[in-house]
Amino acid sequence: MGLTRRNFVTGGTAAVCVLSMAAGSLQAKPVVEGERIVLPTPKKTGGMPLLDTLSTRKTTRVYSSRMLDAQTLSDLLWAAFGINREDGRRTAPSALNSQEIQIFVILEGGIYVYEPKDHALERKLAGDYRKLAGTQSYAQSVPVSFVYVADLEKSLTSPESSESYACVDCGFIGQNVYLFAAANGLCSAFRGSIDRKALAETLKLKASQRVLYGQSIGYGDEEKVQAAPIKLMK
Ligand SMILES: Cc1cc2nc3c(=O)[nH]c(=O)nc-3n(C[C@H](O)[C@H](O)[C@H](O)COP(=O)(O)O)c2cc1C
Repeated sequence: MGLTRRNFVTGGTAAVCVLSMAAGSLQAKPVVEGERIVLPTPKKTGGMPLLDTLSTRKTTRVYSSRMLDAQTLSDLLWAAFGINREDGRRTAPSALNSQEIQIFVILEGGIYVYEPKDHALERKLAGDYRKLAGTQSYAQSVPVSFVYVADLEKSLTSPESSESYACVDCGFIGQNVYLFAAANGLCSAFRGSIDRKALAETLKLKASQRVLYGQSIGYGDEEKVQAAPIKLMK
């Protein structure tokens, strides 16, 4: 079967993702980064049964450098907080349907923001900011890291409770990511240990925006995958 080629990126220069038809199966090559990554249509059906997925969900702190391919990144973002209904509602709930959480995506070539309506990633900053993905060393070399940012101005809850509601909304997205990872042979770690101040400054966030949590997504290191020991707080 011949090679087919689709350009998933607009507005970038050399930024293209190539799909190749090999041995009858469509294989998405790893994401090549650019100003705007228009992702392939996400897969919305099938996958591992829910109970099997729950049986394997876990936090992983050892990753290989292998990048996700375009299809997997697309499916991951949709599962995380994509639009799953015609009225614009999402795969994760949010208090009063505020949809106040944005997902910033740290890749080797820059920091992107997920635009659910276009199912695309818009680059906010070019450069390698992976050191900002988390304060723990494992987090700083994972190929894909999410940073969850809430815009409290968008919250439809009361001002006194908007931040706590946003944290709960964020947790639902994090669990979607954990389950997607478990069902697709990926690894993940939801993380509170991020430098919120440095991220807010780097991303030039507005006063109403809060950096909440981070999450690593990647492939485990085949030889070393194990949950690192947890230090218990006294
Ligand atoms: C709110 C929250 C914050 C967390 N922060 C971190 C963190 O900063 N670093 C980390 O390695 N894991 C973090 N985790 C992952 C937990 O340590 C992990 O879920 C817990 O040890 C249980 O392991 P399991 O997810 O494999 O069941 C966090 C989890 C949650 C829910």
